[in-house]
Amino acid sequence: MTTVSAVDSDDEEINPVTMLLLDNDDDAQQKNGKKPEVAPTPIQHQNYHLTSIDSTVVIRQLPSQGLSFQLWPAAATFVKLLDSYHASNTDPFSAAITTAKRHPRLRILELGSGTGIVGIAAAAILGADVTVTDLPHVLVNLKFNADANSEVLAPRGGEVHVAPMSWGETEEMEAIGREYDLIIGSDVVYHDHLYEPLLQTLKFLLLDGGGDGGEKVFLMGHLRRWKKESGFFKRAKKHFQVELIHEDGPSSDSRTGVVVYRFAKKDAVFR
Ligand SMILES: C[S@@+](CC[C@H](N)C(=O)[O-])C[C@H]1O[C@@H](n2cnc3c(N)ncnc32)[C@H](O)[C@@H]1O
Repeated sequence: MTTVSAVDSDDEEINPVTMLLLDNDDDAQQKNGKKPEVAPTPIQHQNYHLTSIDSTVVIRQLPSQGLSFQLWPAAATFVKLLDSYHASNTDPFSAAITTAKRHPRLRILELGSGTGIVGIAAAAILGADVTVTDLPHVLVNLKFNADANSEVLAPRGGEVHVAPMSWGETEEMEAIGREYDLIIGSDVVYHDHLYEPLLQTLKFLLLDGGGDGGEKVFLMGHLRRWKKESGFFKRAKKHFQVELIHEDGPSSDSRTGVVVYRFAKKDAVFR
């Protein structure tokens, strides 16, 4: 636990579950010159049953390799919301998906996909064409998980593509392009040095033109850990309309619950 307090010692609102996750963060360990005190956890496989399509996806986690190889709390909420999606639902999450469906097959871009559970579930449930992205060293596991679930995706018309996308890197953003109907991400706001690159990426995707019209949105699952995160939202609100569209109650081991935000152009109008 000392690792995290050293990284963010001024913060009182710390969730013990996520402190454990952040203890595995390679960056934090390097800053403190410490090795993790716990033994590396072996490979884990997590099954998610998706009720809406009566299918199970399996996700490989490699916890000893760092935070990008584990399932995070906001991902579980995102998958739950996707699993209860129906075009006739009027809740804001479902409405955002229905509005984004401007083509027969929804094209989704996921930022900071980690294990890929959210993008894979979206492809399976929505029959969507999903591009999951992350830093280069995360892509092998991401591809492993995408391939492991291809038999669940295929009958539903879902597809998952894996691509590198480091936030704020112009060349990678240009290579990914803007031809998506919906941008998603879960638990992508945590370290403050990532706020600005993530905002640059969102500006590129949502504000900088291109694409084929319509109000593009970014749906972001988030579990608040640090008070300083308000700095991210303050900056984000200078450029985007940011609406809270879903809120879980606190879980048994956390004072806060996962929330989902919708980011859009400031002048976007939603019915
Ligand atoms: C806390 S994890 C969340 C993973 C996954 N979305 C989930 O909810 O399970 C944050 C993810 O963002 C990725 N990430 C961190 N910095 C990034 C950057 N500069 N560019 C792209 N992805 C980044 C990490 O590799 C990691 O997969």
